Amino acid sequence: MTTESNPLTGDSPAGADSSRPAPPPGCPAHGRGPGGLSRLHESADLKELYEELRAEHGPVAPVLIHDDVPLWVVLGHAESQQLLRSPAHFCKDSRIWSALGDGLVKPDHPLMPHIAWQPMCAHAEGDEHRRLRGAIDVAVAATDFRGLRRHVNRSVQRVVNRFCEAGEAELVGQYAEHLPMAVMCHVLGMPDEYNDRIVEAARDMLRGTETAIASNAYIMDALQRLTARSRAEPLDDFTGHLTRHPAGLTDEEIAQHLRVVLIAAYEATANLLANVLRQVLIDPRFRSQLNGGQMTVPQAVEQLLWDEPPFSTIFAYYAKQETELGGQRIRKGDGLLFAPAPANVDPRVRPDPTADMMGNRSHLAFGGGTHECPGQDIGRVIAEVGVDALLMRLPDVELSVPESELRFTESIASRHLVELPVNFIPRPQQDVLQRPSHENDAPPRQDWHIGVSRPVAAPVPRVEAPAPMPMPVPPPPPATRPEPRGAWQRLLRWWRGY
Ligand code: HEM
Repeated sequence: MTTESNPLTGDSPAGADSSRPAPPPGCPAHGRGPGGLSRLHESADLKELYEELRAEHGPVAPVLIHDDVPLWVVLGHAESQQLLRSPAHFCKDSRIWSALGDGLVKPDHPLMPHIAWQPMCAHAEGDEHRRLRGAIDVAVAATDFRGLRRHVNRSVQRVVNRFCEAGEAELVGQYAEHLPMAVMCHVLGMPDEYNDRIVEAARDMLRGTETAIASNAYIMDALQRLTARSRAEPLDDFTGHLTRHPAGLTDEEIAQHLRVVLIAAYEATANLLANVLRQVLIDPRFRSQLNGGQMTVPQAVEQLLWDEPPFSTIFAYYAKQETELGGQRIRKGDGLLFAPAPANVDPRVRPDPTADMMGNRSHLAFGGGTHECPGQDIGRVIAEVGVDALLMRLPDVELSVPESELRFTESIASRHLVELPVNFIPRPQQDVLQRPSHENDAPPRQDWHIGVSRPVAAPVPRVEAPAPMPMPVPPPPPATRPEPRGAWQRLLRWWRGY
């Protein structure tokens, strides 16, 4: 394989100029590498780069990652579906990746934690995947979702109690990163392990800091103790279902799967929650649509799963045989990046990327096919109740810095809001067993305006855009929430669990 030929196929890829010399190091010329291919990891704006790649190569584009390792990035929505749903052609077993076999990927490659094959369901295929995944599916299916909603609500009250008297908070670090960890510790069966230390350890691991190994050891220690407890006396929790499952998972398999579940759930759900809260806080139209009943909280969550999928890409799929995808010739052993972020804005499914998707769930934020996320409904419940209950508790919450000061960190894998500083009228702590409510202390805001609704995406029924009008000022909230009148409202409260 020469550096001037297409690093993926050895041929000239469609649109790539193989005669183009690599730009000198440090050249701002667009982060291009051998063969004129774009270096994903050097991009300052991946959204923009994906659109350039789509224009240059179509729905499947050749790119480079760290150490100039070649890879295809799948940008099309239909092509992503094809990638995820063709187990005869593509799998997640990195041991067949030719770049690894050829020694192009070194053991110290920065993406090695994602690349290295591990005996767990995220990398397994066929019967082995069915065995491991079957146990996880049973554990998820045993979730009492109404009880979960109630528990998430209580966790919201607990977390908000920690800052509600201050009148200000930073909602990424103090809220969005805490709620999923509090809930997942409960779901897995180790509620006592939830504290600041475990949130800090998870953060640390994901940032890959110098103490990441120690943080991983801290989390693994908690999960191994949980596995041992559950083996001795399995309860009716997630871990109990894994332990008892007829697939006969070993202690090591249980602990490693608990780790994947805890960390994936923590990272993705915290990211989703932060993104929805940010949108509510920066976009008065979004907030007024929510307040005015034109959009439900689940629809708001779904909208953000389209616009900002918590995992921008998933590393990676590998071709089991020579095939074709999106007009590109894929060779056996090629690596392909599944990329929900660009696939969700494929102009063929979203001609207008600003359109309201109206709760449409055909985005790719949870993947698809055999590896589709088994915990998506748990993630949705945490995000939905996490937004709904926070806004009930702090209805006057608003951003305390200009939107332009909000910063993101971005890697190939994900894009994270760094901080979301807010203020609100200070409130006393609340009994966590109470339904979320707020004191009659926040004057209703007069300055929200309903603008023109987001246009509606083509495949989804269009909603008439209301003419701009001032937001109707709601009557001042009562000091305590009245008992709901009517069978429907009582049913709704029962269903929500709060
Ligand atoms: C908003 C929250 C979440 C998002 C956006 C998300 C997204 C994803 C994605 C994109 C995948 C990979 C699909 C692929 O490889 O093609 C995945 C896999 C997985 N997720 Fe989630 N996830 C979330 C929450 C959760 C939760 C709460 C759990 C816990 C039950 C969970 C457990 C898993 C597991 C075990 C896998 C591996 C499945 C397999 O390979 O068969 N996730 N998730």
